Amino acid sequence: MGNTVIAGTGSFLPPFVLNNHDLEMMVDTSDEWIITRTGIQERRICPKGKATSDMRVEAAKSACKDAGISPEEIDFIICATISPDKFFPSTACIIQAKLGLKNIPAFDISAACSGFIFGLEIAQRLMTEGRYKTGLVIASECMSRLADYTDRSTCVLLGDGAGAVVIKASDEEGLMGSYISSDGSYEDILNAPAGGSANPSSFDTVEKRMHFMKMEGAVLFKIAIQTMCESINTLLKMFNLKKEDIALVVPHQANLRIIKGVAKGMDMPSEKFYVNIEKYGNMSAACVPVALDEASKKGLFRKGDLIITVSFGGGLTWGANLIKWTK
Ligand code: ACO
Repeated sequence: MGNTVIAGTGSFLPPFVLNNHDLEMMVDTSDEWIITRTGIQERRICPKGKATSDMRVEAAKSACKDAGISPEEIDFIICATISPDKFFPSTACIIQAKLGLKNIPAFDISAACSGFIFGLEIAQRLMTEGRYKTGLVIASECMSRLADYTDRSTCVLLGDGAGAVVIKASDEEGLMGSYISSDGSYEDILNAPAGGSANPSSFDTVEKRMHFMKMEGAVLFKIAIQTMCESINTLLKMFNLKKEDIALVVPHQANLRIIKGVAKGMDMPSEKFYVNIEKYGNMSAACVPVALDEASKKGLFRKGDLIITVSFGGGLTWGANLIKWTK
């Protein structure tokens, strides 16, 4: 079986900033509450007329540039999103067309905030089979379109953005492996109740604001810490590693207190966890690849470093990837 490396990373954050003071004028909240309870100061918002696929194309181009390839070299596209442009066709196919690519497989996966982690696992499996040489894994979310700006318990958390990686077949060991898992019995604590076949769009569903994200935050908070610790521990065990072997953990950015809780649960220094939640909030699946790109561009990874990406989200879903940095 061949190896797979991350050859390039990229991201795109829409320029419009919605800060906590803006939200103070929209719902009964305060900058102080949001910062102390979540760590978020501001988030980006995708402008009207632009969609998830537009942000993804920019992230994809930036990852291709970083990898030193032209988009024509891409053999498949996997997109993680819960805020697709449309039910169908997939956002991956829309991006494929926007990148001018033909005759390659392109498909979406839906694993909420864990989508990028699941996407890397699938991509690595496709690559080891030997038929593909270069793949694009993108996560992009317009969470502002799922946010109910009359519900202070959710709208303050969410933001928009896109992150991408180019992966390549290689002799070097890079993408080492992943652990992914789900538990569908938690459907009701984090979901968007209407718009699908269970509750098709109607005047009633719109009136009842059922197309927006609903969440039981306090329940999720505990599960998030538990499942992210479980994911890191499982990976360490799978690869016979000690936590001291890990140079940096790139976690999902749902709440700064959750990230600190995972660091405490793992008995690891919180400095080993990359944090950018203050600037972008929770961008669902896009959090991890955006953070990975940012940490890479800041020069935080050295060749040979072992990095863990870890997330949890709606489904519920959770998991982690182990990456040896080869750039
Ligand atoms: N501003 C001011 N007060 C608020 C706000 C707000 N924005 N939101 C809630 N409150 C109030 C509540 O009404 C409550 O008031 P009460 O005590 O009078 O009833 C009080 O603050 C405490 O509320 P809690 O829900 O207990 O606050 P908590 O400290 O748990 O923080 C939070 C809430 C931030 C949502 C937290 O529970 C959390 O981060 N949960 C996990 C969220 C998450 O990870 N979601 C999954 C990912 S999202 C996705 O998949 C796309």
